[in-house]
Amino acid sequence: QPSVEDLKRIIDSHIHLEGPLLPILHAMQSAYGHVPQDAVPLLAEALNIGRAEVHGVMTFYHDFREVPAGRHVVKICRAEACQAVGGEALAEATLKKLGLEWHGTTANGAVTIEPVYCLGLCACGPAAMVDGRVVGRLDGARMDRILAEAGA
Ligand code: FES
Repeated sequence: QPSVEDLKRIIDSHIHLEGPLLPILHAMQSAYGHVPQDAVPLLAEALNIGRAEVHGVMTFYHDFREVPAGRHVVKICRAEACQAVGGEALAEATLKKLGLEWHGTTANGAVTIEPVYCLGLCACGPAAMVDGRVVGRLDGARMDRILAEAGA
């Protein structure tokens, strides 16, 4: 876990920018893989905005995580073309099987499930991205294999 000093250092190095909130959040996310809870009050104070506003920005941009991700990240496409060929059912079945909500991580820290909106693989849906690698024509069996390999 980063110390308050570490977080303040990141804030200080971006505070001079115009619209510093997003650059600071990105810097924290890339340094720690998530934006630590402790950063929220520090940001609110440094930028003279409310904590709710900091949270609002973090929720609006899907890139920011409040807790660290699992060792593997599976992003399931929820955009239209994939939905039309069963993507949503696959996503629901996957979440249900793992007992997770979107953005959730399995209890053993192996897998995080994220939504994604089009991976450019629309002709081969349902599609997903597994640790940055795109996978098409998914079905329940292939998804099970992916999850098993990831140790979920
Ligand atoms: Fe899923 Fe384009 S809609 S990859």
